[in-house]
Amino acid sequence: MSNIIVLGAQWGDEGKGKMVDLFSEKFDIVARYQGGHNAGHTVFIGEKKFVLKLIPSGILRPGVQAIIGNGVVVDPGALVQEMDMLIAAGIAVDGHLLVSNRAHVIFPFHRMIEKASESRTDRAAIGTTSRGIGPTYEDKIARRGIRVADLMDKARFGDLCKLLAADKAALLGEPVDAAAIQAEYEGYADRLRPLVCDCAYTLSVAMKAGKSVLFEGAQGTMLDIDHGTYPFVTSSSAAAGGACTGTGVPPTKIDGVIGVSKAYITRVGGGPFATEAHGEAGERIRKAGNEFGAVTGRPRRCGWFDAPLLRYTAAVNGFDSMVITKVDVLDMLDEIPVCTGYKIDGELVESMPATVDGLEKIEAVYEMLPGWRTSTRGASSVDELPVNARNYLSFLEEQSGVEVGCVSVGPERNETMVVKGSRLEKLIG
Ligand code: GDP
Ligand code: IMO
Ligand code: MG
Repeated sequence: MSNIIVLGAQWGDEGKGKMVDLFSEKFDIVARYQGGHNAGHTVFIGEKKFVLKLIPSGILRPGVQAIIGNGVVVDPGALVQEMDMLIAAGIAVDGHLLVSNRAHVIFPFHRMIEKASESRTDRAAIGTTSRGIGPTYEDKIARRGIRVADLMDKARFGDLCKLLAADKAALLGEPVDAAAIQAEYEGYADRLRPLVCDCAYTLSVAMKAGKSVLFEGAQGTMLDIDHGTYPFVTSSSAAAGGACTGTGVPPTKIDGVIGVSKAYITRVGGGPFATEAHGEAGERIRKAGNEFGAVTGRPRRCGWFDAPLLRYTAAVNGFDSMVITKVDVLDMLDEIPVCTGYKIDGELVESMPATVDGLEKIEAVYEMLPGWRTSTRGASSVDELPVNARNYLSFLEEQSGVEVGCVSVGPERNETMVVKGSRLEKLIG
């Protein structure tokens, strides 16, 4: 049985939650390795809709162990709320969820700092999710962060909390009530204590015992702190390398990487977007794809499939295979543009520009593909798809240089087709 990473090949919201839920049936453990409750992973089980933010999507499968890795930043209040939501929906959480003792903790002052930073007028706002994610990672890297293990030690937590709150009060120029935060967080500590584990150790023991692990990426590669469209990115390592640093599992234990991509592309928040469809074209996709943020409800910016971007994210992550989701959203189009190359100053470029200026200069080169104008929903194998839809998928495969191992034509579990004989089929067993 293999250990695989399933992650976003674009700017997030590719449908990772749906795919992780589906694949996790075949795995023993599902681990989140980065991000926090800025993620919104939607899973439909029949009529029931779940939006998972911090808890791995595998929790919805009875018998699957969910684990929040050390690379994740945890807002304990949000975690408790999400646990309660699942319990109320009849999902077993106790005994099925663990959280790393090395994960960093988000505090209210992190959200306050983010708000102050996003409302500055001297630089462009990133358009963050206002969850305190960036400032918490800042404290982690500055080596003054508070981790879950610290939260579990009452005396130690009290000291650290006072110190960090005083730092933030000075930075914000307003008082921060450390005592109130301490009291609130001690309540969370009591609730979370039975869940706390050493993630690297737990996974190493499990793997030795032959258990398989699915690593669930949050956000997407183009939002990765190093490889994304910096500074319009999130503050964590969403790309495949993050799965190792964010859980303590060595690269030698990873058997494969699956990229999830929409049949088109979206982005939430600010930043360069070479294939953005403005006006009516973008509006049509937004409406058909219901492209509104699962966490913030913000309208997502919509655009056309960007093959150079996919070639880039495939290279950064080493995709073995990709899933193409939301093919049904394109059902109504007469023709569909696909970006096949980037031109900057009239010259074709191969590599992804590193600066916002460079990214904004990209002129997307398009090829027009004929649409299929038939509903793809209800197809039970790729062979049943209309010929133009099959040609469209083959074109994406050829242009990206990655096999299409799975196709999704609706939000529900059964609206998914794994390609027979694909590398993906082998990886998910
Ligand atoms: P994630 O963050 O990558 O897990 O993706 P989100 O949950 O934020 O956004 C994906 C949205 O598309 C969710 O509302 C899913 O229910 C929905 N979805 C996933 N796959 C498909 C599909 O193939 N077709 C359609 N129409 N919706 C899909
Ligand atoms: P999932 O896992 C899409 C975006 C925000 C913003 C930038 C930084 O559901 O795909 P942050 O709050 O992380 O500091 O915001 O990243 N962003 C996402 N966009 N999907 C997500 O998660 C995202 N998580 C953060 O919109 O542009
Ligand atoms: Mg999402």
